[in-house]
Amino acid sequence: MSLRIGFIGAGDMARHHMKTLLEMKEVEIASVFDINKEQCHKAAEETGAAVYDSADAVLDPARIDAVFICTPQFARGELEETAARKGIHIFVEKPLGLDLDVVRKKEQIVREAGIINSTGYCLRYLDTVRKAKDYLKGREVHLIQANRYNGSHPAKWWRTLALSGGHFVDAVTHQVDMIRFVSGEFHDVNARFSQSAIKRLDPEATIYDAGAITFSMKSGLIGSITETCMSNYHAGHDIKLFGHDFFVHISQNGITVEIVDNEQNITQTSKLDCYREQNKAFVQAVLSGRQDIILSSYADGMKTLAFSLAANQSALENRTIEL
Ligand SMILES: NC(=O)c1ccc[n+]([C@@H]2O[C@H](COP(=O)([O-])OP(=O)(O)OC[C@H]3O[C@@H](n4cnc5c(N)ncnc54)[C@H](O)[C@@H]3O)[C@@H](O)[C@H]2O)c1
Repeated sequence: MSLRIGFIGAGDMARHHMKTLLEMKEVEIASVFDINKEQCHKAAEETGAAVYDSADAVLDPARIDAVFICTPQFARGELEETAARKGIHIFVEKPLGLDLDVVRKKEQIVREAGIINSTGYCLRYLDTVRKAKDYLKGREVHLIQANRYNGSHPAKWWRTLALSGGHFVDAVTHQVDMIRFVSGEFHDVNARFSQSAIKRLDPEATIYDAGAITFSMKSGLIGSITETCMSNYHAGHDIKLFGHDFFVHISQNGITVEIVDNEQNITQTSKLDCYREQNKAFVQAVLSGRQDIILSSYADGMKTLAFSLAANQSALENRTIEL
């Protein structure tokens, strides 16, 4: 059986998804729409997809079975609801939006429609991250220390706080999501953000360029995340989990995991491409009707978003926010 996929948004991330999907013999990229006609035609040339002049035209169940929604988070409109109501399965890029109430309503519609749904938390699909999750099952972490230090995304929308939510909401969301995936739900957050360096790169930028975030989780453990998108001389993407009789270190954005305790001291590096694994799971889930193959559903992505938006609110109001 073949699976016809449509794309809304044909930017960098969408084109990367298209590449991995085209490796799968059961997939056909049937249609594409992007407000940028050049991007759209480039994607169509690479995939053989038909170009449409609106998102509505892509969302036609006679033409597609599933849709990849890869517009930036400020440009999702009612795409998820429209697809869900038409019975079209959805893959939605992270983060799911910028307004939690809107995302909650979308989640309800997606759930009630019973469509297969997946979100772009690709790092969950790494064998290394799953190894950490399995190891931590039943073990008590008492401290988490995480970070994400890297450079800035080139797009104008990304550097505009009202459009991207900032580096923490857009990119550090991967670390936030991995923390949830391996060690449970957040209880509260207290965040401080600053902006001092990014205007040297882009005088019109409105996002923060550094953050120091502390949190507690429902289990009682406490932790912190530090992050910056203005680190051009040092990259870091780590989550360190401390227990009284073990240490787990997920590094390089999940590619490497180190587990140390009285019986072992192992370091494992993944050979998997997380995007390929994520998209394979989505395709299998749609073909088989099995939502359980998906490691990050729309509802899951919503919980990760709730933490990120609460961090922004905490910084703005200078107080701890309970989730
Ligand atoms: N999962 C990951 O690791 C990962 C990595 C990078 C980006 N992303 C996410 O993917 C999304 C897109 O990011 P990107 O890096 O591809 O950005 P990008 O700027 O390269 O591409 C975005 C595309 O969306 C198009 N677009 C904007 N508004 C539109 C609309 N209303 N209708 C149709 N098309 C529209 C733009 O013209 C552009 O081609 C973001 O939400 C981003 O956070 C996820």
